[in-house]
Amino acid sequence: MNSINPTITSEASQPDGPVVPVQEEKPAETVIEEGKTVGKPYVEDAKFKLRDVDVFYGDTRAIKKISLDIARNEVISFIGPSGCGKSTFLRCLNRMNDSIDICSVRGSLQLDDHDIYDPKRDVVELRARVGMVFQKPNPFPKSIYDNVAYGPRIHGLANRKSDLDEIVENSLRKAGLWEEAKDRLDATATGMSGGQQQRLCIARAIAVSPEVVLMDEPCSALDPIATAKVEELIAELSESYTIVIVTHSMQQAARVSHRTAYFHLGHLVEVNETNKVFTSPEHKLTESYITGRFG
Ligand SMILES: Nc1ncnc2c1ncn2[C@@H]1O[C@H](COP(=O)(O)OP(=O)(O)O)[C@@H](O)[C@H]1O
Ligand SMILES: [Mg+2]
Repeated sequence: MNSINPTITSEASQPDGPVVPVQEEKPAETVIEEGKTVGKPYVEDAKFKLRDVDVFYGDTRAIKKISLDIARNEVISFIGPSGCGKSTFLRCLNRMNDSIDICSVRGSLQLDDHDIYDPKRDVVELRARVGMVFQKPNPFPKSIYDNVAYGPRIHGLANRKSDLDEIVENSLRKAGLWEEAKDRLDATATGMSGGQQQRLCIARAIAVSPEVVLMDEPCSALDPIATAKVEELIAELSESYTIVIVTHSMQQAARVSHRTAYFHLGHLVEVNETNKVFTSPEHKLTESYITGRFG
């Protein structure tokens, strides 16, 4: 038996009932509540604890009250339409924004429970702990060896030439570049292919034994084969490092990351396990983005 009683009608449809004003509803996908992120933005074993982060360029607020934890040894992807603040937020994690005069950062940002923006903090040391790889491979116009040895030299990590040789070799091995580079360590780095240059930049970043590697669209200038090599490398590196990667490729985010964070117009809309973000996103905006309705 159908239990619905057909005599019940809605209030609005009764001729003498109150007039219910027709609400002009915003489509669900345009609703973002500031500071509210759906999904799982917080974790147990946080490497980074970021709370109520605002970033301004002059008077323009580019990051709006974002709170997020990044776990130790996780790979987390930042995705979202161009201009939504992914790079800006990434650069807060090792104070790369310091070099932009009009940029100011507010909120609480902690690395291992210590304030990243503490005025007493040694920024050079911070950037050794939190290394960075950029969109366009940017090796120094020096030899392959000197590119990798650069960081260990300025941080005084090797006292003897043999120690430095070892660091260079290990870093190139971890970056999957040793076999290609071992016989041409004195050759200039800028003569390498784009993919090799990017792996060299990764070797340079890991040569100072960082704890975190930030990558801002590291494959966008690479061909598919070089991209596949860098992605393999990310999987290997994640055993030792925390990796935060900005990517415009959803396939890449799906392949390399444990969690994915979806940014929209300076807001952090959703953070979830990568698989969940791509198969059953919680927020309408995430769904619109991953189904290609905007980008
Ligand atoms: N150096 C800068 N000076 C002024 N505005 C900037 C600067 N860098 C980024 N922005 C602005 O901040 C917003 C976020 O940019 P960005 O972080 O580069 O986004 P995404 O990496 O997601 O493409 C954009 O509106 C952009 O124009
Ligand atoms: Mg960017």
